[in-house]
Amino acid sequence: MKHFLHPKNIGEIKNPDGKSEIVNPICGDKLWLFIKIGKKRVKGKEVEYIKEIKYKTLGCAAAIATSSMLSEIVKGKSIDEALKIKAKDIVKELGGLPKHKLHCSLLGINGLRKAIEDYKRKKIKDGS
Ligand code: FES
Repeated sequence: MKHFLHPKNIGEIKNPDGKSEIVNPICGDKLWLFIKIGKKRVKGKEVEYIKEIKYKTLGCAAAIATSSMLSEIVKGKSIDEALKIKAKDIVKELGGLPKHKLHCSLLGINGLRKAIEDYKRKKIKDGS
């Protein structure tokens, strides 16, 4: 309820490094997600990480809450760590969801993965 009533990281990032638009095939609800990528050194190695994440959704309460929780969990994580996060991790952090609302948790996760793909595609295109 806290993440539904006071969602974190709602909004848009201007000139994002990666973005996505996702439609939940089960209900038709929609999410737009934006990321900025930063670089940091971890054990002497340069690692790309999620520096900023924002999203907007035309979704239900569960979609808002799971997207909000996802945005809090993923911030500061490396891209590899972010890609390993699963819907069940988000649901667990929220303290559970009714079974018929579990599909709502896929909106944020799929949006994040697609935004990371978008970032990687742009990087290859730019040759960086
Ligand atoms: Fe559509 Fe929850 S009912 S995302």
